[in-house]
Amino acid sequence: MERTFIMIKPDGVQRGLIGDIISRFETKGFSLVGMKFMSVSRELAEKHYGVHKERPFFGSLVDFITSSPVVAMVWEGDSVVTSARTLIGATNPITSAPGTIRGDYGVTIGRNIIHGSDAIETAQSEIALWFSEEELATWESCA
Ligand code: CMP
Repeated sequence: MERTFIMIKPDGVQRGLIGDIISRFETKGFSLVGMKFMSVSRELAEKHYGVHKERPFFGSLVDFITSSPVVAMVWEGDSVVTSARTLIGATNPITSAPGTIRGDYGVTIGRNIIHGSDAIETAQSEIALWFSEEELATWESCA
């Protein structure tokens, strides 16, 4: 079963959007298999966003992600990587469609509420970076 890594960023936490975001993933039909509310070390943030390290916004991105707690999650389901990106919306909230998380709640690219893995391989490496095997639950709904 496919899995993806989702992080509610400091702005999403501070604006009280945790419940709404989790609800969107649950009602879509995905299963939560891992979750932690945590402060992010500089080392972890720099590894997670390593692909952007030459970009001019890298320092401020790392500053922001380490500035206050985030919710790190792993969600599971059919084509969850692509579907989660659809639920989240385009990176720049100005162009994210209404009805998406960023489209409904954001206006600034550096404060875009949530991160979701952009491909299956990225999801695998991000999940391994943020979670140990023991922190992930395997379960099936009987509902
Ligand atoms: P995310 O999906 O977490 O992946 C990389 C992040 O970099 C992205 O969301 C944005 O929050 C951030 N980002 C991308 N482009 C810019 C930019 N031009 N200025 C500031 N932050 C950016």
